[in-house]
Amino acid sequence: MDAGVPSGQERPALPRCFDEFGPHVEGELARWLPSEEEVEPTLARAMHYSVFSGGKRVRPVLALLACRAVSGCFRPALAAACAVELIHTYSLIHDDLPCMDDDDVRRGKPTSHQVFGEALAVLAGDALLTLAFEVITDEGSGYRADTAASMVRELSRASGARGMVGGQVLDIDGAGGDLERIESLHSMKTGALFSASVRLGALAGDADQLQLESLTEYARGFGLAFQITDDILDVVGDPRKTGRYRGSDEEHGRKTYPSLVGLDESGRLAREAAEGGLDALSGLSGSCRDLEELMEFVLHREG
Ligand code: FPP
Ligand code: MG
Repeated sequence: MDAGVPSGQERPALPRCFDEFGPHVEGELARWLPSEEEVEPTLARAMHYSVFSGGKRVRPVLALLACRAVSGCFRPALAAACAVELIHTYSLIHDDLPCMDDDDVRRGKPTSHQVFGEALAVLAGDALLTLAFEVITDEGSGYRADTAASMVRELSRASGARGMVGGQVLDIDGAGGDLERIESLHSMKTGALFSASVRLGALAGDADQLQLESLTEYARGFGLAFQITDDILDVVGDPRKTGRYRGSDEEHGRKTYPSLVGLDESGRLAREAAEGGLDALSGLSGSCRDLEELMEFVLHREG
């Protein structure tokens, strides 16, 4: 593992839609997070610290693009996009804890438990997870009851034992494995939340079944390409751009795409996954340029 702690993270070059959506996403997150007047100030601070620590907002952008692809407008998906990012943030806080990956740097900054202590980091994560469901079901989000119920079902399934939590358990069990096991681990740990992001966005835009299926297939390719690239970056990435130490997978004894098939074949598999996702966009009628650009970004990202 690299000896130097990356101090600060250089923001990677992101597709244009991140500039367009960024202020809307930040505003929506700020709107829902509790203030220091409303809840215990240290809890409010811990929640704010991790939500506003420089995440790229890939999952919210996926939700907003999915909504726009089916309805022509991204705004109905803002609350859903925010809910997904809250769950993502909780998962990172818990993932960094001493009982899990025991990481002291995330996005080039000290991890939550380094700043607030372990107990508060656990609780801030819990509070972000539960806030996600409050956001979706709050009348201020404007979702019909049946839409909100579908969103809650999608999001809880993607985040729980059949999705992200189950994938994390497989990961910390670390019981070796072949490419098939790694793929299923990642589809639960990371892919499920990407799929939920596009599906919630599509539900917010009143997608029909074909649109929902096309976007889910896009997200499947996206998630796999994202994860393989993540594994590659852990080996060859620039810590100033990734915001984390290099070699963490090897240090934790994880089986990864590069450790199983080498860097070149990993790159080829990432491209193959991305192409599969892009093909699925033919099931949508409108322009999908932003979704295509996002896929390109995932393949060539540096952070
Ligand atoms: C980087 O995303 C993060 C991932 C690829 C997710 C990894 C999954 C976990 C840590 C699951 C942990 C689960 C539990 C239940 C503890 P990103 O590049 O979008 O990160 P960013 O938000 O910093 O940009
Ligand atoms: Mg980790």
